[in-house]
Amino acid sequence: MAKKSVSVFFCQECGNETSKWSGQCPACGAWNSLVEEVVDKSTVKARSKVSDIKPTKLINVEASSEHRISTSIEEFDRVLGGGVVPGSMILVGGDPGIGKSTLLLQTCQKLCLSNIEVMYVSGEESLQQIKIRADRIGQFNDKLDLLCETNLDTIKAVVEREKPTVLIIDSIQTMYNEAVGSAPGSVSQVRESTSVLMEIAKVQGIAVFIVGHVTKEGTVAGPRVLEHMVDTVLYFEGDRHASYRILRGVKNRFGSTNEIGVFEMRDSGLEEVKNPSAVMLDGRPENATGSIVTCSMEGTRPILVEIQSLVSKTAFEIPRRMATGCDYNRVNLLVAVLERMRDVKANRSCGIFLGRSDIYVNIAGGIRINEPAIDLATALAIYSSEKEIPVDAGTIVFGEIGLSGEVRSVSMAEQRVSEAKKLGFKTAIIPSSNLNGVSNIKGINIVGVANIKEAVDAISR
Ligand code: TYD
Ligand code: MG
Repeated sequence: MAKKSVSVFFCQECGNETSKWSGQCPACGAWNSLVEEVVDKSTVKARSKVSDIKPTKLINVEASSEHRISTSIEEFDRVLGGGVVPGSMILVGGDPGIGKSTLLLQTCQKLCLSNIEVMYVSGEESLQQIKIRADRIGQFNDKLDLLCETNLDTIKAVVEREKPTVLIIDSIQTMYNEAVGSAPGSVSQVRESTSVLMEIAKVQGIAVFIVGHVTKEGTVAGPRVLEHMVDTVLYFEGDRHASYRILRGVKNRFGSTNEIGVFEMRDSGLEEVKNPSAVMLDGRPENATGSIVTCSMEGTRPILVEIQSLVSKTAFEIPRRMATGCDYNRVNLLVAVLERMRDVKANRSCGIFLGRSDIYVNIAGGIRINEPAIDLATALAIYSSEKEIPVDAGTIVFGEIGLSGEVRSVSMAEQRVSEAKKLGFKTAIIPSSNLNGVSNIKGINIVGVANIKEAVDAISR
């Protein structure tokens, strides 16, 4: 077949393909995101005859009992759903410098100690640079093979010869495929490279970790398609200047998502944090206004975090509202609920006026939480700051707030209260509809509230 190359335009945000350039991507609406790339259309795969293909009965499919490779890093295993599944592909994304290479090199170290053959392919660092990093981390044994290479055909050939059990590619944006004309890191390169690696993973049963850089917008640079192709997507997040790092599962074909692993970046690499609640609450001010502890479920794990709020008179025409670590729109909604607060028993309104105030809400510790269960604590933190009422430091608050100011039940209330009790909290303010589920927990004073007014009264006492 004659070789036929055509020019197509890819959207760097969503991976959409069009034949004509335009200023705005027709699929995702992003501006200025289309890039031109030359694509070779001659590679059409030979298909087997359709008449030979038959579907298989589900009951006849044999699945070998699930076997997972443990990374010996408990926090990492948890996010992976109990370990690495052979033949799976795992994408580790995150900002530059957050610690992706460090985490994977440490994983290599642990895997090698369990006698698993690992190959670490780096397209970003030289052998010496990897060695310097390895020296900081600790002792390695002879099971780890290093390869500094960016050409995927070469990598594929070496992998086929060496047959490692686990392959690590650092990073996908540096890899290139000769068959694709465009530069490394471009949409079609990343997509092709991933499918070559996918083939290695599935055909040879090798577990492949790939590192992907993240753009300012928070997606893996280049295409989202990458996320659709791999089995597991993990994001490494946290403030690069603070020492805590959170590894979060956002997609997992072999386990539950929303699990998190918490690490601390030390001089000798990443250290697991076994008790994140204590870390998140470290350095909390006592008896300060606008500071409240809440409990969020991250997967199966309850984590206590401090929500801070600062309400001050605005100097601007339109007051400022800022949310760090939580949803901005949710904060605006809670402000509106506070303004329209009603005393249900006395049947009168008792809202607070916030229309001339700047409001800042922050979750301490650099963690991001999107769970509605933190609503009640957020609203009370704003109230506490506005009214200058300090909340007792031994109190924990959780519950979802509805638009009419009602406090709604949340899932897994029992785990949340138990975690608070374990960390020495004396009082828990929770949705009254959750009271039944926590009646067997002793040693902590539990207050049920049905609406936001009752919650405000509970902290004002
Ligand atoms: P790195 O793993 O290179 O980040 P990524 O691969 O995600 O770009 O992380 C580098 C950062 O971590 C760098 O700023 C130095 C720091 N670091 C430590 O603090 N301690 C260590 O032991 C190591 C290896 C790195
Ligand atoms: Mg790196």
